[in-house]
Amino acid sequence: MTSTARIASVRARQILDSRGRPTVEADVTLDNGSFGRACAPSGASRGIYEACELRDGDPAHYDGLGVKKAVANVNEKLASAIRGQSVLDQEAIDTIMRDTDGTASLERIGANAVLAVSMAVACAAAEHERVPLYRHLANLASTVPSMPMPMTNILSGGAHAGRGMDLQDFLMIPVGAKSYSEALEMISHVRLSSTRLMKDRGLTTLLADEGGLSPGFGRAEEAMELMVQSFESAGLRPGDDAAIALDVAASELFEDRSYRLAGEGKTFSGAEMADFIFDLARRYPVVSIEDPLDQDDWDNWRRFASVLPNCQIVGDDLFVTNVERIRMGIEKEAANAALIKLNQNGTVSGTIDATATAKAAGFAAVVSARSGETEDTFIADLSVALGAGQIKIGSVRSSERLAKYNRLLRIEEDGVLPFAGVSGIYGHSVAEAV
Ligand code: PGA
Ligand code: ZN
Repeated sequence: MTSTARIASVRARQILDSRGRPTVEADVTLDNGSFGRACAPSGASRGIYEACELRDGDPAHYDGLGVKKAVANVNEKLASAIRGQSVLDQEAIDTIMRDTDGTASLERIGANAVLAVSMAVACAAAEHERVPLYRHLANLASTVPSMPMPMTNILSGGAHAGRGMDLQDFLMIPVGAKSYSEALEMISHVRLSSTRLMKDRGLTTLLADEGGLSPGFGRAEEAMELMVQSFESAGLRPGDDAAIALDVAASELFEDRSYRLAGEGKTFSGAEMADFIFDLARRYPVVSIEDPLDQDDWDNWRRFASVLPNCQIVGDDLFVTNVERIRMGIEKEAANAALIKLNQNGTVSGTIDATATAKAAGFAAVVSARSGETEDTFIADLSVALGAGQIKIGSVRSSERLAKYNRLLRIEEDGVLPFAGVSGIYGHSVAEAV
């Protein structure tokens, strides 16, 4: 048994994220000197039901995107509210912070303020207990840790690439990998191959927000072809070694009750949108589809999930890491997997509950970064701790993403954790892989 340590001080500051925009960093110090630090991430294609990110709105600073109010809320309100609490009681601390805010969406204190402190508390507790963060989080969640399968951005569009392509992410899952490090090497190889292929065709190879390439193809089909060619040119068999995952981020395309795909030159009803994605899924080795439809289009989600029963159908904007919305999805059979983003929920214990709710219903879980990230590696440990099976970080190009990939390499080096492999992906078992 470890002895109790109590929170002695909490301090926050404004730092910058990977898009050069302000975000909240929080420090938590315990009475025995143990220390934790964490930073809140920030999304661009945000769901309307996400916990609320508090921004200053003062056009004189950072275009209104400053987070000085959220920082002041930590230093002036949350610090005094949680001082003296046992650091091991994450749930009690998160409840106090929610109560201090008093709204379900954390709009008064700001989910960015609450989350940074919540994560820093977990980091301080892990240091106090002298265990790696993933061990501490697994103890909190009563879960069995494993190394996750990465799902990685190769080509980008949507809100992450100046609307260059309609669909937001064309991702690779290295389904043939036998270990996390092998998976990472396959991904790196494919990412290099896609750059080479694009250069050969005279296409620009500038980076999108998550480090993916943004060829700006009009049609999704062209991006799918390039994905397959990139696998082949890396010496990987499409479908067997490397498969495609899509994040359509369809809420971003939904306007006046229709889906507007500028690149395709099409405006679709919900049923037509579903058919468009089905067609891509049938013609290419697609194993996972995220947000194929708008966050409120429940009926079409339900139909979509019933037509592709063996494909992983992931709710991001649909579920926003929220227990109630995940429960609705389970009841309506609207999907079979949940994207897990800490800042959509607002606290570490709330995120653990959301993941547990999804997994208890047989849903898959994909722990995910945001398009605005920092050097913080918390989600690497979280994905391992929860035995989530999958992680979505963005491409292998910029340090805010690589910090997480590299943290996973260090965890793997401990040599004790099994690799989830394809078993974490909905509809795939290890038996099928051999
Ligand atoms: P976001 O994108 O962080 O900009 O919301 C990530 C995603 O849609 O999965
Ligand atoms: Zn998404």
